[in-house]
Amino acid sequence: MLRVGILGCGTIAAKVADSLKGNKNVVIEGVASRERNKAKKFAALHCPDARVFTGYEKLAASEDIDLIYIATPNTYHYEHAIMCIKEYKNVLIEKPFAMSKAEADSIFFEAKNRGVFVAEAMWPSYQPLHAKAIEWIEKGRIGAVKYVTANLGYDIASVPRLNSPMLGGGSYLDLGVYTTNFALSFMGDDIRVSRVFARKLSSGIDRDTTYSMESEDGSILGNFYVTMCADTDKDGVVVGERGKIKFTNINNYRKIALYSQDDTLLDEVEAKGNYIHGYVYEFESCAKAISKGFIQAPEMPWARTIKIAQINDTIRSMM
Ligand SMILES: NC(=O)c1ccc[n+]([C@@H]2O[C@H](COP(=O)([O-])OP(=O)(O)OC[C@H]3O[C@@H](n4cnc5c(N)ncnc54)[C@H](OP(=O)(O)O)[C@@H]3O)[C@@H](O)[C@H]2O)c1
Repeated sequence: MLRVGILGCGTIAAKVADSLKGNKNVVIEGVASRERNKAKKFAALHCPDARVFTGYEKLAASEDIDLIYIATPNTYHYEHAIMCIKEYKNVLIEKPFAMSKAEADSIFFEAKNRGVFVAEAMWPSYQPLHAKAIEWIEKGRIGAVKYVTANLGYDIASVPRLNSPMLGGGSYLDLGVYTTNFALSFMGDDIRVSRVFARKLSSGIDRDTTYSMESEDGSILGNFYVTMCADTDKDGVVVGERGKIKFTNINNYRKIALYSQDDTLLDEVEAKGNYIHGYVYEFESCAKAISKGFIQAPEMPWARTIKIAQINDTIRSMM
């Protein structure tokens, strides 16, 4: 049983804790907040058997925790990850993993030196439908990939965290990291950013960002947009020489459908469980990897996180 400590009792931490209720492989052992009453209330609502820690340092130093799930705002991921790793605690870090590639490199450097497990909580990557789509492509069911597109938009412009440069707000860091991970998953790692267009607020926050990517050899083109101002369909399509795969919700796959070149439906697979069940897979992956002594999750290796961080730096510099 993997004993998880939650660091930061916010919105996503609550969903994750609810998704893990009754899980046979993962248990929430502790929750830490900067405020004692907040942590107590969080535990009572979402994980009544968990120990309550006032202050993140106490959770990081606790003996009884196997993995700390870092669910603080983007600009704090680095500081909190380093603190936990220095206490030899394995960590699962919310996306975006860090604010820059330099921060990501530094986290992995500290983890490698200590043999500590680190993974990015890029939840779609751990979901069975992600692996299924990759399997279809590897089996040649759509032929060579030529074109990839995806969008991700939520009407969340009023959320304070997303409007704060100090907390790493903006649509790209909140949502674009998913479309970039989608691009890397289906276009391959040898891709570059060719164009970026962002609509920015006076604070510097990007409300909407559209961008294009292409493979280094020019054979695959990708187009993506993200927005914090509207609920979009959140769909993705991977088009190959002989067919295509359509994804319903690239943020939390609900369905993938395989079509021939003439648009005949050949196969489709739907996600199991309710919406929040999508969070379970990343924790089960951590449990499995840690039990085997791995320091990386196979579904989200360090190289992928570093590549995303590098692309994030490029896209943000081009806005
Ligand atoms: N995977 C997903 O689907 C998903 C969805 C939403 C967000 N996220 C990611 O999860 C992280 C947290 O997002 P969220 O929406 O849960 O944010 P949130 O509701 O604002 O919660 C963040 C928590 O971080 C802690 N915190 C520490 N320093 C803080 C500061 N200076 N200001 C505000 N909070 C601070 C607070 O916990 P205490 O007060 O308890 O200390 C707060 O409740 C972000 O990195 C985000 O990108 C992922």
